[in-house]
Amino acid sequence: MTHVTQEKWSSGTAFLLAAIGSAVGLGNIYRFPYVVGENGGGAFVLLYLGIVLLFGIPLVMTELTIGRRRQLPPITAFTELSEGKKSQPFWKFVGFSSILTPLGILGFYFVIAGWTLNYVYSIITGQLNNLVEGQTLAVFTEMQQSPATLIFWMTLSLLITAFIISRGIKAGLEKAVNILMPMLFAILVILVIYSAFNGGMVETFEFMFTPDFSKITGRTVLEATGQAFFSLSLGSATMLVYGSYLPKDTSIPKLACGVAFADTFVALIAGFAVFPIIFNNGLEIDSGPNLVFVTLPVIFDQMPLGQAFGILFFLLLAFAAITSTISLFEPAVSNLEERGIFSRKKASVVVGFGLWCLACLSALSMNVLSDLRVLTFNDTVASKNIMDLLEYMSANAMMLINSLFAGIFLGWILNRKEALEELGLGDSILFKFWRAIIKYIVPVVVGYLIYAFFTGQMGG
Ligand code: TRP
Repeated sequence: MTHVTQEKWSSGTAFLLAAIGSAVGLGNIYRFPYVVGENGGGAFVLLYLGIVLLFGIPLVMTELTIGRRRQLPPITAFTELSEGKKSQPFWKFVGFSSILTPLGILGFYFVIAGWTLNYVYSIITGQLNNLVEGQTLAVFTEMQQSPATLIFWMTLSLLITAFIISRGIKAGLEKAVNILMPMLFAILVILVIYSAFNGGMVETFEFMFTPDFSKITGRTVLEATGQAFFSLSLGSATMLVYGSYLPKDTSIPKLACGVAFADTFVALIAGFAVFPIIFNNGLEIDSGPNLVFVTLPVIFDQMPLGQAFGILFFLLLAFAAITSTISLFEPAVSNLEERGIFSRKKASVVVGFGLWCLACLSALSMNVLSDLRVLTFNDTVASKNIMDLLEYMSANAMMLINSLFAGIFLGWILNRKEALEELGLGDSILFKFWRAIIKYIVPVVVGYLIYAFFTGQMGG
């Protein structure tokens, strides 16, 4: 098979910025604080950190290794690396499934990215001024009830993403993260300082770092793992593809640690931007998904310079979302381009259109299609509208399944020598430890999680 030669990142640093951009997203700034809030704070945070260290980093290394080995996108990479094995057709299918998963994630992610853009606009135009509690809930609900509003902002976030993708690795992705990531960090720092000046830091420290282990249940463990995998962009071709653009002279273990460290740091910092504001105002920390879109706007409205900081906060969310949607969009395009099926520009349009249809269904499932059920194979699934179902199947089930197979592939199919060469750690204890985790522990633990998932113990 002839391959179209792929562009590469211009350096390890360029990769690092893009991969951190992928990892840092709505998962860190929107989801992490409310999941910590719902799961009682410190113990959950500690558990989360443990999972990132033990499974997160090794799995990021695994996906980067599979991607960079032949510097090819997932389907071809899995196929070529399993050359001569009886199971080859199966691995080709795993490559395919890992490309489909991020498309499913985008089906709901674009809609939420659209909310963040809408909120930036609403705060700028003063639509969230002088509201008391209850009214911000009304604003949020009204947005969800309006197909036109949802679809307009979702479409904008999709167009921005498709435009960046269509320009390619260096002129598109690298340029976008070079602009967006520094802004993202700057805004985050400003927000934390702002929060610090307004008090509530001590309570936040206590809440985030005093573990109460009675709060840990089987379900918490499942939640923490799902959150960690999602936040690190695992199990859905993103790291495979970003790894395939990685120059050979860069160190995979170092880069993987860099990505995991930055991602986790931003999630914790997001807690320090959000929680003090909540504590200071005596509001509910466990208000779930409403935390950012309903609770925060009330407070921003009452604080000095609140409107400006409100705008900054939602801009931060929007930037974080866009650098993640890019990484979810890229695998399908990269695959179509490499196989010579479409040019990059055409592929961006075709994939973009398909995603637009899916995201429209998602947006409509909050209002006119709210009673439509696609799958009903168990009670949990039967209770979900299209948007929730997409999240449940792609961001939980498929992501775990793909991670499981990436681990099995590295441990049991890929030649040890190839892994050894690619990682550049020599035949050291670190290399052996990494491979043992991936080969034995990941299949058992992730396999169990998948079982727990399908028997309805997770993600209800
Ligand atoms: N990690 C991003 C977030 O936290 C989302 C994301 C981007 C993602 N690429 C991914 C999630 C691949 C799973 C798989 O918001």
